[in-house]
Amino acid sequence: MRSITNRLALLFSAILLAAIAGVYFGVTPTLESALRDQKLNSLALDARRYSGPIQASIGSNDDVRVVNRLVRHAADAAAARVTLLGVTRGSYGLQTYLKYDSTAEVDIRDLAFAVAADAARTGRTAQGTEAGTSGRVAEAARPLFYVPRGGGRKVVGSVVVYSQPLQDVEANVRVIRRRILIAGGIALLLSALAAWFTARQFSRRVLRMQRVAQRVAAGDFSARFERGSLDELGRLGRALDDMQRQLSELEDARKRFIATASHELRTPIFSLGGFLELLQDEELDDETRERFLGQLREQVDRLGKLATDLLDLSRLEAGSLDLRPEETDIGELARDVAAEFIPALAAHDSHLELRLATQPVEAVCDPERVAQIMRILIDNALSHTPTGTDVVLAAVHRDGRVRLSVTDYGSGIKRTALPRIFEPFYTSDDAQGSGLGLAIAHELAERMSGELSAESVPGRTTFALELPT
Ligand SMILES: Nc1ncnc2c1ncn2[C@@H]1O[C@H](COP(=O)(O)OP(=O)(O)O)[C@@H](O)[C@H]1O
Ligand SMILES: [Mg+2]
Repeated sequence: MRSITNRLALLFSAILLAAIAGVYFGVTPTLESALRDQKLNSLALDARRYSGPIQASIGSNDDVRVVNRLVRHAADAAAARVTLLGVTRGSYGLQTYLKYDSTAEVDIRDLAFAVAADAARTGRTAQGTEAGTSGRVAEAARPLFYVPRGGGRKVVGSVVVYSQPLQDVEANVRVIRRRILIAGGIALLLSALAAWFTARQFSRRVLRMQRVAQRVAAGDFSARFERGSLDELGRLGRALDDMQRQLSELEDARKRFIATASHELRTPIFSLGGFLELLQDEELDDETRERFLGQLREQVDRLGKLATDLLDLSRLEAGSLDLRPEETDIGELARDVAAEFIPALAAHDSHLELRLATQPVEAVCDPERVAQIMRILIDNALSHTPTGTDVVLAAVHRDGRVRLSVTDYGSGIKRTALPRIFEPFYTSDDAQGSGLGLAIAHELAERMSGELSAESVPGRTTFALELPT
């Protein structure tokens, strides 16, 4: 019962069964009584139509044999059994007794003819049914009158009863009942089968999806969901397929990230090992030793920075880096960061121009993190440009936001490289970078509801950070 297939098949069968039972128990009795009424009415009509001669004959005191013959004629005309009953009114009340019956072959005392008493009592044609020895019988009784010898009011002297077996009605209804049962049974079987097959098809597709989902969960990203059909399951399949594609892209990115990160870490570690081995040489003169130590320090610095960057990026991507947004004067922050770069600018033989408004340029952001972004951008403007390239740092209000930009007049970023510079580990030239700077800056900007964008043409490259005010 846990399977949708069985539940659907059962539900369909139950509904159909209820419908069949409704027809069988609700409609066939109505049909039977309608057919019976029809028969009774036509009998009553016959009783009225064919009893005239009998009435006339009894009224004129004709011979019993004449009367009996007239009864037989009426029976032939109406194609019914006709019974003539006499009426007596004794101390027990009104009673009828048999006078003549048109069918001699059957036991003429098999029926009580209650309708005859009714007709005698009311003086009107009465109709009803009665159970005889060979099944139910429909009866219509017609009262016959006579005027008593002393004169006065007409009284019912006898009753003529027209009867016909109800067997054919019953047989008809039986046939219809049987047909309903047969047709219902076939319909029941077909509908259960149809429901079962349709549901099974659906459940098979669901099962296939489940298997694909299990494979994907187990790490097999080559498994594909069906996306062919247009129905609900097809739509689900397409949604799952899209999800799977994205998962697979994420998985690729993760693998790439780990591979690149370990490669980036391994290079300085190997070089450290190499220098350490060289330093173990006891015949090393002081000057060379000093140079090796300097290179060792450089590699250690690089490793340290790489480790910090990796940690920052992973925290940013996991959403666990805490930011403390506050009202910040971007101009002041820019001045402080610019001051940090005095030695680097001197080494690069460049000039950094600050273009700041005299009044404060305020934005809502984490000042530490905005300073980090500025450092990344100024560092790039120095490390990816030839010596002597000037840099401009500007901060302005624009369209209700603060725009902080770092522009340099270096050779620019290639058009093909531009869309990729924010990817982790992407470096387009041989400058000694890990390629994490812009990725971190971009994530940081987004986390502060800001946006970092780049524009570059040969001779002019601008990185702009927009922040909410
Ligand atoms: N001001 C710039 N001028 C030219 N190229 C740049 C500039 N800033 C960034 N790039 C390019 O974008 C790449 C990615 O920068 P970044 O993420 O900071 O990595 P890294 O500086 O470690 O190479 C750089 O390798 C460089 O090719
Ligand atoms: Mg950089």
